[in-house]
Amino acid sequence: MSDFLNQIEKRRTFAIISHPDAGKTTLTEKLLLYGGAIQQAGIVKGKKGTKRATSDWMDIEKERGISVTSSVMQFNYDGYCVNILDTPGHQDFSEDTYRTLMAADSAVMVIDAAKGVEAQTIKLFKVCTLRHIPIFTFINKMDRDSRDPFELMEEIEKILGIQTYPINWPIGSGKDFKGVYDRQKKEILAFESDGKVGVKQAIAKSAKLGDPNLDSLITAPLHETLAMDIELLDGASYEFDRERINTGRLSPVFFGSALTNFGVEPFIKEFLALTTPPLARHSDMGMIDPMNDDFSAFVFKIQANMNKAHRDRIAFMRIVSGKFERGMEVKHIQGGKKVRLSQSTQLMASDRETVDEAFAGDIIGIFDPGIFSIGDTITTSKNNFKFDPIPTFAPEHFARITQVDTMKRKQFVKGMEQIAQEGAIQIFREIGGGYEEVIVGVVGVLQLEVLEHRLKTEYSVDIRIQTLSYQYIRWIENEEINPKALNITSDTKLLEDFKERKLLLFTSQWNINWATEKNPDLKLVDVAQN
Ligand code: G4P
Repeated sequence: MSDFLNQIEKRRTFAIISHPDAGKTTLTEKLLLYGGAIQQAGIVKGKKGTKRATSDWMDIEKERGISVTSSVMQFNYDGYCVNILDTPGHQDFSEDTYRTLMAADSAVMVIDAAKGVEAQTIKLFKVCTLRHIPIFTFINKMDRDSRDPFELMEEIEKILGIQTYPINWPIGSGKDFKGVYDRQKKEILAFESDGKVGVKQAIAKSAKLGDPNLDSLITAPLHETLAMDIELLDGASYEFDRERINTGRLSPVFFGSALTNFGVEPFIKEFLALTTPPLARHSDMGMIDPMNDDFSAFVFKIQANMNKAHRDRIAFMRIVSGKFERGMEVKHIQGGKKVRLSQSTQLMASDRETVDEAFAGDIIGIFDPGIFSIGDTITTSKNNFKFDPIPTFAPEHFARITQVDTMKRKQFVKGMEQIAQEGAIQIFREIGGGYEEVIVGVVGVLQLEVLEHRLKTEYSVDIRIQTLSYQYIRWIENEEINPKALNITSDTKLLEDFKERKLLLFTSQWNINWATEKNPDLKLVDVAQN
């Protein structure tokens, strides 16, 4: 295989999704430790960074540096080139978190073994299923008292609607978590703590089921329970099916403890072998193959003003095909212009390095003089294709924004539009109206504070934020309908977004049901795809 093809073939680009506190940061760190990308736990993105108090956010420049530098983490492991995309969580949870998933080829879903499937996991999972990417499950915190593993499998299947295939099975839990049983090799991996939790890899001893020494390795009662579990599992679980895994219909499941390292190494090895190399991507001229000689990429995230002095923005791009070389000239399809990609950064742990070359599957950050929007395509191909747009996801918090000083109207509109173009907020207005009254929607409530801070520091505009009681947004999918003639409750608001798509804001699920019952032709969606 040529070096070019080999470079692409060995890439694995994925995101880790979870509800806050399930262990995403800890697992990410362990993967980086195993990959040799960092030497000690605790330095990646700072749990402090993710769990900072709201007021800290205002000390923003430095903080931005932190959240940006950890946008992608790349390392080599076992012959693979691994790209882990950071999906902001906790306070940083925003539409960016969803959009980042549009750049991943697969996802690892971390679930707390005591808690099962939680709210944020459900939201992130739903976004992954839009593209039918493979979804792997890591059931974490097995070193604590956990729920019954069969019950957890059932919950995943029922709540998320995905079938499961346990690749391994836990032996005990809590203080008695001894290891995992590898179903393919029919082998037990018993872990031993090295006494230095968090730094070294776990020591594992392997033995076959039925081995006379097994009782001493995992105790006789656990040996017995395991034998019964495996019999039950082999009889009842779904068949291993690569095709179903690749299309996100069957989730391979692993058990472990990121904190004590138990099960982390078997997970990463097996996961990298099973998950997919860079996927082809849909465009308006058909599928674009990663091995294509022409370079192409799309923008999935824009990070503004990392350096106050320069007002620069960085556009994060996922390379879909070909090879990137620094200084290359590409066509920016949406802008209709040629651009030279001379300032490029790859963002890795705490360093910001300049990248000279990168391949399909990689993420690069390109200096953006303000020309790129979320979803834009760049390519060296003669065919002016555009990748399918990145969907607009439902915000969950809404507020009315008014400016304090009406003399600054121009700056206000410019600031709001630019920040909306970056995808940090969504702005809505009355149908056919102007932006006298702007309603803003955000996925994470902190975005409203960021908006206020940025308008003040970057545009010298003070605003008033009045939070509104709407909880749900639904775009009206059928264009033939007259939205003004809809039968809706008086507390439901009809608006349009800045792409002039009509939408409704609801205060309750009850009101959504009312609208769909009273207007049988009305088609509502919570993700705007066009
Ligand atoms: P997140 O990124 O998904 O939000 O979770 P994070 O890794 O920050 O983990 C949340 C808490 O759970 C942390 O404890 C972490 O140490 C703990 N944790 C993660 N994995 C495991 C595991 O396998 N077993 C056990 N027992 N705990 C685990 P914390 O007290 O909130 O933070 P810290 O002060 O320990 O860093």
